[in-house]
Formats: sequence, C-alpha cells, structure tokens
Amino acid sequence: MSISVTVPLGDRSYPVLVGRGAVGRLGDMVPAGVERVLVVTQSGVPLDAAGVLRGAGLDVATVEIGNGEAAKSLASVEEILGRLSALGATRRDLVVGAGGGMVTDVAGFAASLWHRGIRVVHVATTLLAMVDAAIGGKTGVNLGHGKNLVGTFWQPSGVICDTAALDSLPPREVRCGHGEMAKYHFLTGDDLLGLPLEERIARCVAIKAEVVASDERESGRRAILNYGHTLAHALEIETGFAMAHGEAVAVGIAYAARLARRLGRIGEDRVGQHLRVLEEYGLDSGLPATSDPDHLVALMHGDKKALDGLTFVLDGPRGVEVVPGVDGAEARKALADMAVR
Ligand SMILES: NC(=O)c1ccc[n+]([C@@H]2O[C@H](COP(=O)([O-])OP(=O)(O)OC[C@H]3O[C@@H](n4cnc5c(N)ncnc54)[C@H](O)[C@@H]3O)[C@@H](O)[C@H]2O)c1
Ligand SMILES: [Zn+2]
Repeated sequence: MSISVTVPLGDRSYPVLVGRGAVGRLGDMVPAGVERVLVVTQSGVPLDAAGVLRGAGLDVATVEIGNGEAAKSLASVEEILGRLSALGATRRDLVVGAGGGMVTDVAGFAASLWHRGIRVVHVATTLLAMVDAAIGGKTGVNLGHGKNLVGTFWQPSGVICDTAALDSLPPREVRCGHGEMAKYHFLTGDDLLGLPLEERIARCVAIKAEVVASDERESGRRAILNYGHTLAHALEIETGFAMAHGEAVAVGIAYAARLARRLGRIGEDRVGQHLRVLEEYGLDSGLPATSDPDHLVALMHGDKKALDGLTFVLDGPRGVEVVPGVDGAEARKALADMAVR
C-alpha cells in the first residue's frame, strides 16, 4: 500500500507516492507521449528504475554520475546533456533522477536546461531526498565558490519514495535524513513521532508541499524550510564539512529553540519538546567541543539569508517564521546556552 500526496501547484501539480515497493508504479508517472527516458543515477543506488521503465515498454538509457558533492557540478550536467544529445532526446522525452538529493538536484537541473526544459520524475532513494530534496522543484549544482550557487526552479511531474531503498542506506545517511525530518515536527502542530515510517514521510512531504505551494520561488515563507539551518551552515563551514548537513541541522534546531527562548518567543517546555524530538531520533544536539562561538556568530552573519543584522527562522507564538534583525549579542548568548558534546 502506498500513500499518495499531491504537491498542489495548479496545472503543474504532481503526485508523490510513498511506500515499500512504490517504484513498481514508476510507469504510471511517465507522462503521455514519452518514448525515451534517460535515467540519471549513481553506482550503489538500489531499486531498478530503468528495469521498471523497460517493463512499461519505454526506450530507456542510463547515465551514472559521480558520487559526492564534488560531482554535483556543471561537468556532471554537461555529461547528462551530452547523453540526451546522443540519444536525440526531444521535448517529449523524460529524465528520471534515481538516487539521493545530489542526483535529483543534478538530474532536475539538466532536465530544466535541455531544450529549455523537459519533464523529470524523481525516484528518491535516501530519507533526505524523500522528505526534502526531491520535493519542491529546487535544482542546482555547486561551483568551486560555494554550494548550490547555480540552479533553477523546475518542478518534477512526479516523485516516488520507495522505502525499500532505505534498507541499504548507511546509518550516517539515515541520521542526516532524520536531521531534516526533525524540522518538520515544528512547522505544524502535528505529533509526527507516533506515526509509522511511511506515514511520517508522507506527512513531511505534505508539509513541504503546502509550504512550497504557498511560496514556490521563496520570496518569503518558503524560507521556514530552513528551520535550524542558519547555525547548521556555520557549523558545516567551521568543521570543514566534517559535520554532515543533517547532523548540523539537528544542532541548529536545538539552537533555534534556545535562541527563541532567549528572545521570549517560546517557553522552556517548548525547548524541551525540541530536545525530545532530537533525542527520539538519536540525534546529537550539542555543539562540537572544538566550536568557537564568536567565529560561529561571524559565520552566521555571512549567511545568505542575512539582510540587516542576523536573520533566523524561529519558533514563536505564530509558529515558525523568518525573524530578521536579531541582535548578535543574543545570538552569542544562546550559543552559550547550548550543551557541548
Ligand atoms: N533541492 C532541494 O530542495 C534540496 C533540499 C535539501 C537537500 N538538497 C541537496 O541534497 C543533497 C544531499 O542529498 P542526500 O543526503 O540524499 O545525499 P546524496 O544524494 O549525496 O546521497 C548520499 C550517498 O548515499 C548513496 N545512496 C543513495 N541512495 C542509497 C540507498 N538507498 N542505499 C545506499 N546508498 C544510497 C548515494 O550514492 C551517495 O553516495 C545535497 O546536495 C543538498 O544540497 C536539495
Ligand atoms: Zn537542509
């Protein structure tokens, strides 16, 4: 049994299918008129998306891109575009991104460029891609100067989240997915902890879908999806990316709660709720012992969301929202409130 969630974007609305074995329904997501499919994937990614598509009578080619953020590059995009060219792909054809968030970001970007945009379907195989990266239409690659500096908004025609893929996911990748999952616990009043995995993933997708639908191109509210991310980005930089994104987000969520408490936006009980959720996922919410708080504050000032002073996404009486103009001294004090690991 799969759960279907719709990302409601008018005539660009699309389904997200969550469930064990959901990849078997990939053929149903192929838009009418498609003859050829290029599957973009990586070595080590489970689920035979290409096989399912062949079984549905399609002409399927596969391209494997490299692993890791270094391969999230314009060179990988060029490789995909080269394959589309060699296949003689037309505007009627389809790209399928099968993998984690890195693959779906790169595949989506390439699809948005080929003949000024052809359709793409994602088969998300990491927890992080299922609840976050594959949903919402942000695509992109890194440049030497920074992460995700080049990209497009390009919504997929459908997304598959087959939880069977998670059987082979390494524990650290699971932890990273949990870091992003944890943020959804605070974007609505729902208690997600009690839900079975498939339902919880589907709820996270539905929450993201609602936020994306309300502000597709991030002119405002969509930024709440960056809950916990201001400190997380600083920690990633400070640790030279030794701390993985999702691990840093977990610490960032604990910090956002402490800062909101300091600013009188939430009470101690709500801080406790944050720490409980992180603990429930087995996530470490303390600062690394090597962290330099003054340096972290300086790094947060450099965050791209900063307009005037420090901008955070914080919980409060109206729920989680973007809060500009936070005093750097308060931000520093909230770091001192943090546990150290
Ligand atoms: N577009 C967005 O809105 C958005 C949101 C969040 C993150 N992202 C992007 O997502 C990327 C991170 O995604 P990620 O965490 O999925 O990492 P990833 O895509 O790099 O995958 C991590 C590793 O797991 C492997 N893998 C994938 N599925 C597997 C499986 N089922 N079993 C075993 N191994 C598997 C991959 O080959 C890779 O080596 C970043 O580049 C980030 O910028 C994008
Ligand atoms: Zn994130």
